[in-house]
Amino acid sequence: MARQVSICVIGSGYVGLVAAACFADMGHKVTCVDNDEARVKLLCDGGVPIFEEHLPELLAKHRGRSVTFTTDLGRAVEESEAVFIAVGTPQGDSGAADLSYVEAVVAEIARMIKNYKVIVEKSTVPVYTNAWIRRVLHRHGVEKDRFDVVSNPEFLREGTAVVDFLHPDRIVVGASEEHSAELLRQIYEPLTEGSYYTQPGAVPGCCNTAHPAKMLVTTTQSAEIIKHASNAFLAMKISFINAVANLAEAVDADIEDIAKGIGLDSRIGPRFLRAGLGYGGSCFPKDVAAFHWVAQERGVNFQLLDEVRKINETQREIFFNKVRSALWTLRGKRLAALGLAFKGETDDIRESPSIEIIKKLLQAGAIVTAYDPAAIERAKQTLPPDTNMKYAANLYEAAKDADAVLILTDWKEFAAIDLERLNQAVRFPILIDGRNLYKPDEMQKHGFTYVSMGRQASYQGQEGKPHKMPA
Ligand code: NAD
Ligand code: UGA
Repeated sequence: MARQVSICVIGSGYVGLVAAACFADMGHKVTCVDNDEARVKLLCDGGVPIFEEHLPELLAKHRGRSVTFTTDLGRAVEESEAVFIAVGTPQGDSGAADLSYVEAVVAEIARMIKNYKVIVEKSTVPVYTNAWIRRVLHRHGVEKDRFDVVSNPEFLREGTAVVDFLHPDRIVVGASEEHSAELLRQIYEPLTEGSYYTQPGAVPGCCNTAHPAKMLVTTTQSAEIIKHASNAFLAMKISFINAVANLAEAVDADIEDIAKGIGLDSRIGPRFLRAGLGYGGSCFPKDVAAFHWVAQERGVNFQLLDEVRKINETQREIFFNKVRSALWTLRGKRLAALGLAFKGETDDIRESPSIEIIKKLLQAGAIVTAYDPAAIERAKQTLPPDTNMKYAANLYEAAKDADAVLILTDWKEFAAIDLERLNQAVRFPILIDGRNLYKPDEMQKHGFTYVSMGRQASYQGQEGKPHKMPA
């Protein structure tokens, strides 16, 4: 039987809140701390500040029992054996990660430590941050025997965060002492021994007692590099397929067939080969930049990462030019924008390609009506509603009298549109799909001119192929 560990999680964002709820579901006693008072109040009152599958159910099950929320970091640290730091590490001006939130938390922990704690670096941080945390604790007068610092990077994806956390491909622990590694082994034992998967009400996923989660214990530097290198590799895979998509389009080939053909090679694999608007989100853009910065700092040539970034940025321009090519001029054109979140099944709009594209369309004089199943409220803070920027309650309302419909986010809902109804709603049946959710011949059958990424466009009826617009 796994031991119950008392855990403090600092930060109640996409990672901290999910980790807190999942640790509670694994049988631990968790206090989740945030310095955002409104967020803590919302959590204490039964609210859920982010859109994430399974999270409301887990919080309803454990709130006030095995998971509590507070702004009182001192007390939470005092009552815990392990303190997980899960605050933001945004991109700084130089491209390096801004570690000021981590440092502020470490300084606060230093003031509060009275007896031995294992401090766990959960945020994504550059190599040697573990060493810096130790140094800061020493500088604040904390004796060496009062703490250990472990690196335990998180690999969850937004939209599937709870399942990813409880059914991980791997759990990485970077530790320099056996004692602290052992505490992390105990914390994750329900997943690594598999007892979690037989418990009533366990969140289902790919792990089970026969195939439980795997843990890899490494040095702290290796664990830190594993996280950055994993994100950079996935970003590289996306930029690679986008570059191939642009070539495919130039030679009349089909990127969907090509991605399938490449992905069937088991050494490459089919995932993260979806061509489109490029990667966004709060992690890939900043982590590729931070990893590149680390390499530069150490005098290591990793120019590849800059190429990954450039290809990614070009995808937005390519899409924008497709809209111009399909519509000729943009001033006064009514466009339905489907999707605001950086990917489907999340309400997160940080570094969202959709937001960037909508801003460009508005600058060009277009009138945009946007719909997103979860991200409208967040988007309104960046793109306030006005005469040219409107929001709709559903996708058909967004499409009403539109000169063209743009698919910007890969929400499952957008892959299951009633195409007859959409065709009746629009002014002109033109669909420009930045996420390749449909097949060109299917769209043609439904009477649409259909433009997508890495494939030839299909034109409706009288429409001939338009002239390419100059970049
Ligand atoms: P977030 O911005 O959603 O949440 C961070 C939270 O920390 C906020 O609620 C903020 O109020 C709180 N916070 C900041 N300073 C604090 C302090 N001094 N005391 C208490 N609380 C404080 O961030 P996130 O998306 O959860 O990411 C957190 C870290 O995890 C980042 O390093 C990120 O790169 C990494 N990560 C994120 C994901 C993801 O999918 N979002 C996945 C893996 C790793
Ligand atoms: C990503 C990683 O997948 C996680 O393992 C990691 O923990 C996390 O970053 C992090 O460190 O924060 P996330 O950003 O939530 O997770 O979402 P992804 O599913 O990876 O998608 C990232 C972006 O790439 C999205 O904009 C998505 O639309 C795009 N993408 C993804 C593609 O364009 N093509 C693909 O084939 C896959």
